Amino acid sequence: MPGLFFVYAGSGPMPPWQTPTLECLLRAPIPSTVAAMSRYYLTTPIYYVNDKPHIGHCFTTCFADVVARFQRLFGREVFFLTGTDEHADKVVSTAAEHGMSPMQWADTNARAFEQAFAALNISNDDFIRTTQPRHTTKVLEYIAALQKRGDIYLGDYTGWWDPSQEEYLTETTAKDAGYKSPVTGKDLVKRTERNYFFKLSAYHDRLVEHLARNPEFILPESRRNEVLGRLRERLVDIPISRGITDDPSSQWGIRMPEDATHRIYVWIDALFNYLSVIDTDEKQDFWPPSAHLLAKDILWFHAVIWPCLLMALGRPLPGTVYAHGYFVRDGRKMSKSLGNFIDLAVINQYCAKYSADAFRWFLATQGPIGNNDADFSHTKFIEVYNADLANGIGNAISRVGNMCDKYFNGTVPDAKGVSSLPGLADFDWPSIISRHVASAIGKADALDITGALQEGVLLVKKVDAYINVTEPFKLAKKIAPGSDESPERDRLAAILYHCAEALRVATLLHSPAIPTAAAKVQTAWHCLPAAGATLAQQTLWNGAHSLVPGAPLTKGDILFMRAEPGPLNPDEHTPGAA
Ligand code: MSP
Repeated sequence: MPGLFFVYAGSGPMPPWQTPTLECLLRAPIPSTVAAMSRYYLTTPIYYVNDKPHIGHCFTTCFADVVARFQRLFGREVFFLTGTDEHADKVVSTAAEHGMSPMQWADTNARAFEQAFAALNISNDDFIRTTQPRHTTKVLEYIAALQKRGDIYLGDYTGWWDPSQEEYLTETTAKDAGYKSPVTGKDLVKRTERNYFFKLSAYHDRLVEHLARNPEFILPESRRNEVLGRLRERLVDIPISRGITDDPSSQWGIRMPEDATHRIYVWIDALFNYLSVIDTDEKQDFWPPSAHLLAKDILWFHAVIWPCLLMALGRPLPGTVYAHGYFVRDGRKMSKSLGNFIDLAVINQYCAKYSADAFRWFLATQGPIGNNDADFSHTKFIEVYNADLANGIGNAISRVGNMCDKYFNGTVPDAKGVSSLPGLADFDWPSIISRHVASAIGKADALDITGALQEGVLLVKKVDAYINVTEPFKLAKKIAPGSDESPERDRLAAILYHCAEALRVATLLHSPAIPTAAAKVQTAWHCLPAAGATLAQQTLWNGAHSLVPGAPLTKGDILFMRAEPGPLNPDEHTPGAA
């Protein structure tokens, strides 16, 4: 695990302490709330190219995509970045195993990530590859700036080296493993290397203070507490370079400025991607990021090392580092050795059979958002698909579309200004809608996309309940054929208008997770969202974007066919089938 390289376990010189100066404290970023920002910059981790995409990568990227789409819906200017991390040593050995150069291997796998994300309808605005010159030149500038400030120095790193895995282990891990490799059982070796160090220790106090002042800096809260717990021990300086030897893998990476015998450690190179992409005349206003999304495995890099690098560079810090849990299978970690990954082949089967929207919906509503890990199970997938999509929004849209088609010739009925029916106080539509919309906005801003999407689901349930109480299909039978004017017809028109308008809003609230299905409804109902309008404007009752009586409202195709329980692929064992 490359991360371990960072943990100072050795006996090299302790770095000089540097108390934060007043100037440093004054430069501490001013806490900003998402609500106050009109620009929203959002990132995923950049993924290693020595591997193919799997559900874990797709999950974080899909999570980010839903956040990005919510923010666009709220009227913010969004920049959503994902990409690949290409300078890991393993790229060299894996490329050789495939008879390719490291660059060819990186090209192949970066393309696989791009294709996987395109198939999942991911709306990223850019895709950074750390081998691109736009990134490598900026990394050199940042390292040179840190050197100039005196935040980088040459020193000795001593640690427990696992020759079989080519990595350093922490003192604790080494001790717990009896100073043997936890993977191969071979002896660990105490080793000293000459390295460039970053003065992480100098930023300890400022970081702790930043965390104290900005509770939303690390989310969820439990992860913030974990980091705060670890920060009770003072930070030590970290090596940020690795020596170049005769080993071909040591040639791969960005050389240290003015020292061709060292290359920049892959994690430092990788973290800078968030800045290098945006550090241009056209895009710099997007800085700082509103949110970095990632999983718990790489929280320390993002919540500790990254902000300290930024402080050293004098850049404002990101709003939130959000570390979600893991997708697991039957309670066990997914890994190559267990062969239990939900890989791209399986993901493609889900998308082909149930649609990319359906797969996205499952990830966004059942994924490991928050503290806990989440289990992937086919049975659960079918359950959620039927409940929320086929029998939820899909069925409601089809029922109301059919009734408008049948009773109002495929047009929007005219409620004549009535927004709630007498005796039905529970169905005051303007306030129901504004409540769900406000709640969805609050939740999406807090990165609780599951909660935000649930507001749309609740709105659909309310429409179903309204149909059950008002029984429009029975009412329609009481209307004499050809009669245009009658109290029953007015009531029917009001009921169906309420349903259609509430479903227009519910569709908007579902749209970040199911963009294709939402666009189908919006096309059939002639209510494609207007660019530039906020969600509050778009969902105002009797507002400028409401359905217009008399406008066409066509039935449209069935959005989500009901799924039968049973395996994903009847001919094969279905991964995840419970
Ligand atoms: N390259 C580094 C990140 C550098 S970011 C400056 C890296 N890459 S990775 O390919 O290993 O991706 C790790 C990330 O993939 C996790 O943080 C998470 O976002 C996602 N996931 C990988 N496996 C996962 C699960 N099983 N479940 C959920 N997401 C996980 O680390």
